[in-house]
Amino acid sequence: MSEDIEKFFLDRGCLIEEKAIAEIEKRGGIEYIRKNEKKIDFSSPIFALSDLPTVNEFSIVKEFHLDGYPGISESFVDIFRNRYQFLHSKLNERSKNHFFSPISKVKRDNGVVFASGMVAEYSAPTTGYGILEIEDETSSIKVILPKTYKDVIIKDEVIGVSGQFSRDGTAIFAENVYRPEVSKEPSLNGSSVKVMVVSDIHVGSKNFIEDSFLNMIDYVNTQGVSFVVMNGDLVDGIGVYPDQESDLAINDINLQYRKFAGLISRFNSNVRVIVIPGNHDIVYPTEPQNPLPKEINAMFPPNVTSLSNPVWVEIGGRIFLLYHGTSIFDFLEAIPGMTLNDTDKVMVEMLKRGHLAPEYGKNLSFIPLKSDYYLIDPVPDVLVTGHVHSHSITTHKGILAINASTFQEQTNYQRMMNFNPKPAIGTLVDTYDLSATAVKF
Ligand SMILES: [Fe+2]
Repeated sequence: MSEDIEKFFLDRGCLIEEKAIAEIEKRGGIEYIRKNEKKIDFSSPIFALSDLPTVNEFSIVKEFHLDGYPGISESFVDIFRNRYQFLHSKLNERSKNHFFSPISKVKRDNGVVFASGMVAEYSAPTTGYGILEIEDETSSIKVILPKTYKDVIIKDEVIGVSGQFSRDGTAIFAENVYRPEVSKEPSLNGSSVKVMVVSDIHVGSKNFIEDSFLNMIDYVNTQGVSFVVMNGDLVDGIGVYPDQESDLAINDINLQYRKFAGLISRFNSNVRVIVIPGNHDIVYPTEPQNPLPKEINAMFPPNVTSLSNPVWVEIGGRIFLLYHGTSIFDFLEAIPGMTLNDTDKVMVEMLKRGHLAPEYGKNLSFIPLKSDYYLIDPVPDVLVTGHVHSHSITTHKGILAINASTFQEQTNYQRMMNFNPKPAIGTLVDTYDLSATAVKF
C-alpha cells in the first residue's frame, strides 16, 4: 500500500516521489523497506528513486580463466589425482564409524574392510554381479558388487566400498557402496532476491523464438526481478555442426552477437544479467571455457557480466553453480533407460558423485588442469544446467537443481532425433526460500 510507504518515510522526516514508491512496491512493498531500513539514507527532504539501494550486487565465488585459475598442467594426471584426494577426504569426513583406506593399506584378513578408489573399469551385471576395478595413486583392486546393487557405476567416479576379501585376496566382495554426495541444510535466507534463469537463446538461428524472449525481458522489467542468468549458447554460432548454414537466419557470428546485445539492452539498467558461454558460443569447445572474448563483451550494456563455464557466483546470499551442461549426454549414455526428459535425474547423479562430469573421454573434452575444476566444490545452493533444451526443476538434499529451458524451437536435427524441446520457459528463483517457479513465455 503506497500510503504505508509514504507514512514510513514521513515518520522519518521526508517525502517520497511516486517513482520510488512504485519501485518499492515491485520489490515487496513496506516489508522490503522495513528489511532494508539500515541501507537507506533518509536525510534528503524528498526521497528519489535513485536514493533506493541497488539490489543487484553479486560476487564471483570461483571462476575459471585459461591464463589464471587453476592453471594448466603438463598432463591429465593432476586432475585425477586431485579428484581422488578431494573425494576420498569427503568420504571420510562424512563417515562416522569407519575410515576408507588407500587400497595398498587395506589389510587382507577376515574382517570387513573399507577402501576408496576411482572406478577404472566397470562391467554391468550381465551375470548378476557388477564387476569393477577401483584404483588410487598406489594400487588397484577388483570389486564384486552384490546382486542386490542396482545403482549405476560411472567410469572415473570416486566411490568407497565396504566388504570382505575373497579367499585368494584378489577381490573385495562389496556389501556397500558409498558416495561423496553433496548436500545443504535447508534454510531461509536473510534476503529475497528474484533471479530469472534461462539458457540456450540461440540468437541467429531460424528457430530462435524472439517474441517469447522479448516477453521474458518484459516480465523481468516489470515483476521486480533483480538478476537474469543466461546459461550458455547465447547465439547459434557458425560451423558448430555440419550444414548449420541452412538453419541460420544470421550467417555471421559477430552480427549474431550484435543482435543478442541489442535484445539484452532492453533489460532495465538496474537488472543484472550474468552470461556464460556454451558449446555454440565463440569460445574454444574444450572445457572449462573462458568467458566470452572482450570484443564481444564490449557490445553488451554495463549491467551485463560475462563469466566462465562453469562458474560459481553468490547472489542474494546463495551460491549458484552455473554449468552449461555438455556432460549431461555422457550421463545419459552411461545410465540405461534415461532420456533427454530426465535432466532432473541426471543432475541428481552429479550431486551424488560430487562431480559435474566424472567420465573422461566421451562427449566432453577437457583442458589438462592442475586441479579438478569440475568437483562440486564449494557446494552450491542452486545448480543450473542447460544445453539439452529440455526443462526441469528438482531439489535434492537441500540443493535446488534447474535444467534451464531454451528460446529455440525444434530444429530439423531434433526432429530427426524425435526430440521435442521444452522452449520459452523461465525459472524464477527466490533466494529467500529457494522456491522455483516455471514461467511460460
Ligand atoms: Fe543449446
